[in-house]
Amino acid sequence: MIDKERMPVHVAVIMDGNGRWAKSKGLPRLAGHNAGMKAMKKIVDHSDKLGIKYLTVYAFSTENWKRSITEVTGIFKLLVTYVNSDLQELVENNVKVKVLGNYSELPKDAVKSLEKTLADTADNTGLQFNIALNYGGRGEIKEAVRALGEKVAAGQLQPGDITEEMISDELSTGRLHADVPDPELIIRTSGELRLSNFLLWQSAYSELVFSDVLWPDFTPEEYEKAIAEYQSRDRRFGGR
Ligand code: IPE
Ligand code: IPE
Ligand code: MG
Repeated sequence: MIDKERMPVHVAVIMDGNGRWAKSKGLPRLAGHNAGMKAMKKIVDHSDKLGIKYLTVYAFSTENWKRSITEVTGIFKLLVTYVNSDLQELVENNVKVKVLGNYSELPKDAVKSLEKTLADTADNTGLQFNIALNYGGRGEIKEAVRALGEKVAAGQLQPGDITEEMISDELSTGRLHADVPDPELIIRTSGELRLSNFLLWQSAYSELVFSDVLWPDFTPEEYEKAIAEYQSRDRRFGGR
């Protein structure tokens, strides 16, 4: 059972296992991604019901471009369909959508749909739903270093005055961008035990919960199990 009084403020999810789910059913990989979108929608709705303030999902990494062109274009097509068909519902449910990652490098129609979603939900005040798309943790740290380097070169900042907070602010999750606190809980599905370049800086003290369930089979019940596991942990932050 989960304790509604001790909910994480920010939950981040590595939605993994779509391909294996499809394979186990003798279906093409894209059928797995399609089922994954449906699972994602349920988790967005459920996060809202549970009163979670921020949900971040890892939808496409900077390394996922290594996949076949058919799979990559198929994933973005599904994304456009999802965003367009569910946009009205997101607006009505007061969900605010943000994107982490360089989405301007995505196919044009995907960029257009995303920009519309960002604009149409910008004033919403409910759940903030961050979609990590063309996102990589090391890449965003590099961008932050560059941004601070520019300030140093322009004489606006002394290297010795750089703080951890300044670095956080420059990341895609930082105050200058999506403005999300570090996640208390990171969930990864499909039995893989790694971060795969997700929220490297922000996960310093996150609780990691791994589920063997493949993402398309990840239900609100499984989600609650992961939250219960988080609530059973003793978070010490280096103290005793
Ligand atoms: C996660 O599922 C979705 C993306 C990375 C886009 P995968 O496609 O990685 O599924 P598996 O790991 O091959 O089963
Ligand atoms: C991580 O899954 C990226 C997303 C879920 C979007 P991958 O399937 O790409 O990760 P690896 O390759 O198994 O580490
Ligand atoms: Mg995978």
